[in-house]
Amino acid sequence: MNSQVLPRLAILISGHGTNLQAFIDACARRELVAHIGIVISNNPKAVGLQRAHNAGLATHTIDHRDFATREEFDQALVNELHSASIDLVVLAGFMRILTPVLVQPFVGRLLNIHPSLLPKYPGMRTHQRALDSGDAEAGATVHFVTQELDGGPPILQGRLPTLPDDTAESLAARVSILEHAMYPLAVRWYLQGRLQLTDNGAVLDGKMIAATGVQYRADAR
Ligand code: GRF
Repeated sequence: MNSQVLPRLAILISGHGTNLQAFIDACARRELVAHIGIVISNNPKAVGLQRAHNAGLATHTIDHRDFATREEFDQALVNELHSASIDLVVLAGFMRILTPVLVQPFVGRLLNIHPSLLPKYPGMRTHQRALDSGDAEAGATVHFVTQELDGGPPILQGRLPTLPDDTAESLAARVSILEHAMYPLAVRWYLQGRLQLTDNGAVLDGKMIAATGVQYRADAR
């Protein structure tokens, strides 16, 4: 199919881009019938930019340090997203706090993945905080982005057991693998028109999603 007629994703990164790679692979396997129209990084040194280049994707670096305010940085992002005719914005390890300048034009079309079982542990150091609390389970949550940091309505939550000898690094490595499986699934639901953000929360197949999100299973479609 001509990439011009496919739904167009923007993937926003700051670092390694392993989730970006999962989207590149899912599109290549046609598990996601979409085109990654642009990969945007706020970090010129993000390893993920090389992944995008290797896949022949358009990239754009918008360095937040070049802007006096968060709002000006966000406006530059919005301009780039509009000129790339983006349908859905996928935050994948994008380490910036967003302002309404970016959130408002894309509300309902803006997804994030957070490496914790939200509402637990918004913010940073999620794996260490889960281990310090003695949690038996950890995981990741895909959610719609709203103005509240890591607080928009959850869509999909993947969980796995913590292990007695886990470190933040070992736990992060297992959660990362889970993220790569679950994030493209949530995007597929969106692209299939099955997933919406409403005033009351996230809806899948016409039903409200629970406050902790749909529980991810490897055989979910
Ligand atoms: C992931 O753990 C994601 O949950 C968080 O940032 C990390 C990004 O990793 N938001 P990568 O850059 O996709 O490898």
